[in-house]
Amino acid sequence: MQEEAMIDASAFLSALIGWYERHGRDLPWRHTHDPYAIWLSEIILQQTRIAQGQAYWERFMQRFPTVQQLAEASEDEVLKLWQGLGYYSRARNLHAAARQIVAQGRFPDTLADIQRLKGVGPYTASAIAAFAFNRPAVAIDGNAYRVFARLMGIHTPINSSEGQREFRIVGERLFGLNGHATTITHQGEAPWRTANSALMDLGATLCTPQAPACPECPLEDQCVAYHAHLTDTLPVKQKTVKSRTRHLAYVWVRCQGHVALHRRGEGDIWQGLWEPLVYEDQPVPTFQGQLTLLSKGVRHVLTHRVIIADFYLLNTDKRPATPDGYVWVNEEEATEYAVPRLVEKLQEMVERGKC
Ligand code: ADE
Repeated sequence: MQEEAMIDASAFLSALIGWYERHGRDLPWRHTHDPYAIWLSEIILQQTRIAQGQAYWERFMQRFPTVQQLAEASEDEVLKLWQGLGYYSRARNLHAAARQIVAQGRFPDTLADIQRLKGVGPYTASAIAAFAFNRPAVAIDGNAYRVFARLMGIHTPINSSEGQREFRIVGERLFGLNGHATTITHQGEAPWRTANSALMDLGATLCTPQAPACPECPLEDQCVAYHAHLTDTLPVKQKTVKSRTRHLAYVWVRCQGHVALHRRGEGDIWQGLWEPLVYEDQPVPTFQGQLTLLSKGVRHVLTHRVIIADFYLLNTDKRPATPDGYVWVNEEEATEYAVPRLVEKLQEMVERGKC
């Protein structure tokens, strides 16, 4: 039988909100209630740190100040603006969902309707519902899992389906979503917007994965992990499948100011992004012209893949035969195509070698 702490919703919320009102982070998307701006921030922040994500959010908001403008853009332009953030399905879903929203005539404003948007799961829907509409919802991200696991002494793996169910129930109980929470903010508002920001900030700044700042924590007294010396043990995460290694060779074929590129297809990594001539698990053939090895064994880590890539430059006067789907683009304009970060590294090397 594992130890379970008892803290009621109003004690939890008032400690959390009291702390946030003094120590919360000032982030640009907290200065707006515009659901479009908030949705965009949540999609960007799904797999990206704030320091990097903020610059992208600002660029997107500048280029596409409204959901209509995003919907009217081409997917290529959206992918290009996303370049460098990774997990490109986020950008494709963002674009598709912008068109969904415009077709509906307004941004959905209930948890259930928000969750029908492409690319929006339970976490993101809860975050948007709370931040944009101050609806009663708890957004359980990695930070929240850690806070709840430690506070309540929960050993169920956070990445198991059992864990996800359990943490949702705990989150809803701590936020008082099943009854009527009495806590309000100092502005006299319902607490959901503030409580979710507070939970994220507590997890990001005090209840950190390593060396949490327990003495500064407003929940220290009630925290099971703190009293039982379990902060290094909790949260528990199940081991996931080992990542597979893929070997690629890229050849930047330069022929009379042009380079051969193709768009990657469905059912594989980097769908919709562009890349030069590529060989996977096969040797690079001989070509007419001068083939230079620029770099060998470049390591690139994705979530379930490790890519080991060799980069080549081929200078030739005769266009080699390329598989179907390749186009010859002006080399000067190649940087306008959305490419994976790995290909961008190759482009940088080619560019550096030019002088
Ligand atoms: N991580 C995900 N969403 C966030 C937000 N709105 N504020 C801070 N960190 C976040």
